[in-house]
Amino acid sequence: MKIAVIQGPNLNMLGIREQHIYGSMGLEQIHDQLKTAAGQNGVEVEFFQSNLEGEIIDRIQECLGTVDGIMINPAAYSHTSIAIKDALSAVAMPVVEVHISNIYKREEFRQKSITAGASTGVISGFGPFGYHMGLIALMQIISEIKA
Ligand code: DQA
Repeated sequence: MKIAVIQGPNLNMLGIREQHIYGSMGLEQIHDQLKTAAGQNGVEVEFFQSNLEGEIIDRIQECLGTVDGIMINPAAYSHTSIAIKDALSAVAMPVVEVHISNIYKREEFRQKSITAGASTGVISGFGPFGYHMGLIALMQIISEIKA
């Protein structure tokens, strides 16, 4: 089983940006821990981060026929990008959207996720642990499909 982890804009700044909201863990550390957890479950993970909408769309399109599911934190593009939502719909595979913060208790403009409309489910507000929750969710959904 193979999963693509796609991280949107400014997530390369985790550990530096607004630590009171996103915590002190850097993206590399989050990915290292996720890779370990995935490995223990026999899951292969491919990591990608970009600050550019088009690059994120290209990466999603590449997922077609190469991975079994996508875990994505579209970051600010969640609230603006119909194009990313369409790319997720186009590849038609299990998608878990993760937000480190609880977007529903933040500014009003964050409370709507456009991309979530193309996701199987959304995890929001559990900090970096949300990526582990997302991994477990994807493993369950993908193994049900493969069964
Ligand atoms: C975020 C929430 C978004 O509103 C914000 O733009 C981010 C990170 C989160 O993980 O909590 O960059 O997706």
